[in-house]
Amino acid sequence: MIHPGLEWKSHAARLADDLIAAGKLTDPRLADAVRETPRHVFVPAYHRQTADGGWAEHRSTDDLAAVYANTALITALTPERAVLSSSTQPGLMTRMIESLQLADGMRVLEIGTGTGYNAALLTHLLGERNVFSIDIEPGLVELARTRIPGRPTLVTGDGAQGLPEHAPFDAIIATCAVPAIPWPWIDQVRPGGVILADLKPAPGAGSLVRLTRQGDGAEGRFDPTYAAFMDLRPAPGTAGFRVERGHAEYRTTDVDPNTPWTSLVTWFIASFDLGSEIAYGYTFPEGSAASSIATPDGSWAEITLAAENGRHAVAEGGPRRLWRLVEEAHRLWTDLGCPGWDRFGFTATPQAQTVSLDGGHSWRVTGGPE
Ligand SMILES: C[S@@+](CC[C@H](N)C(=O)[O-])C[C@H]1O[C@@H](n2cnc3c(N)ncnc32)[C@H](O)[C@@H]1O
Repeated sequence: MIHPGLEWKSHAARLADDLIAAGKLTDPRLADAVRETPRHVFVPAYHRQTADGGWAEHRSTDDLAAVYANTALITALTPERAVLSSSTQPGLMTRMIESLQLADGMRVLEIGTGTGYNAALLTHLLGERNVFSIDIEPGLVELARTRIPGRPTLVTGDGAQGLPEHAPFDAIIATCAVPAIPWPWIDQVRPGGVILADLKPAPGAGSLVRLTRQGDGAEGRFDPTYAAFMDLRPAPGTAGFRVERGHAEYRTTDVDPNTPWTSLVTWFIASFDLGSEIAYGYTFPEGSAASSIATPDGSWAEITLAAENGRHAVAEGGPRRLWRLVEEAHRLWTDLGCPGWDRFGFTATPQAQTVSLDGGHSWRVTGGPE
């Protein structure tokens, strides 16, 4: 519901102006869409993490400036308080929509309806007949249906399957991260059409790729700027796994324990050896802060953040030495001259999905066809 009398339009106009000034919005028609789409209606409330690691709910109408800011907002949590959905940073959305190079009459499929805000921008641009959006959470799809002006096609289901009954599309835009490009997306985009998705072969390891359908496959490059979406889930309401620590071996390392967060390309390269399922975060073993990584085979590593003479203590256990794999990836990345995302390309054929680096290295993306 658009609250009568609420001064949201000046906030929406300022958001558009801010995105233009930041170089994240150039298309005047898309700028109009941002000005005329009431984000507070799509995000009536959102959750912010509190100092003690909990969540506090905020009502959007209490502080419109916060809702019409270029920030992502957490909009749905599971009963266990894991993040289920969010409204993406508007500037990332506009940058992604512009990179699709949409012309009048083009048909777009969005994976991850979420709040419906992005689908509303697309509907403003292309008209309701040309916009299709799918989310795995039935409750979110129902809410989005009541909020989007116009009637784009909104579907509850697993976006990894695309929407074969409405294909072909000129573009598919995914607002959740995928470990490999689902083959139905390549199948359902017309030749020359675009797939834009956050390709993360493992959690946190990867970024946006823009692919063009060519022949019986697709190829393209990574976007120079890092982006991170929540993972595509195989079923509603699921999130994460836990690994128990067992016997440990101890040594030291000079590789930064924060690497998964601060050296994202190293983490990406490491993920091809670590595997597609990694739990990682910070822990506090025996009172000192450490980063930790673990894989479902029971392998784990903890690296203390504090250093002595430039070296951090490493504890590792299970069948594989996970931090060793991160160290090797870090060495390779450094030897290659510390390449950024723009140096990476991606190719999908019916046989394999491959990430390649200018100058020769390539890695097979598992989770794609074997
Ligand atoms: C970052 S949010 C999307 C933001 C949304 N585009 C917006 O404008 O608010 C990611 C969404 O992906 C959805 N999602 C996760 N797994 C999915 C799947 N298998 N199929 C479709 N949607 C999925 C989540 O439920 C969540 O709503």
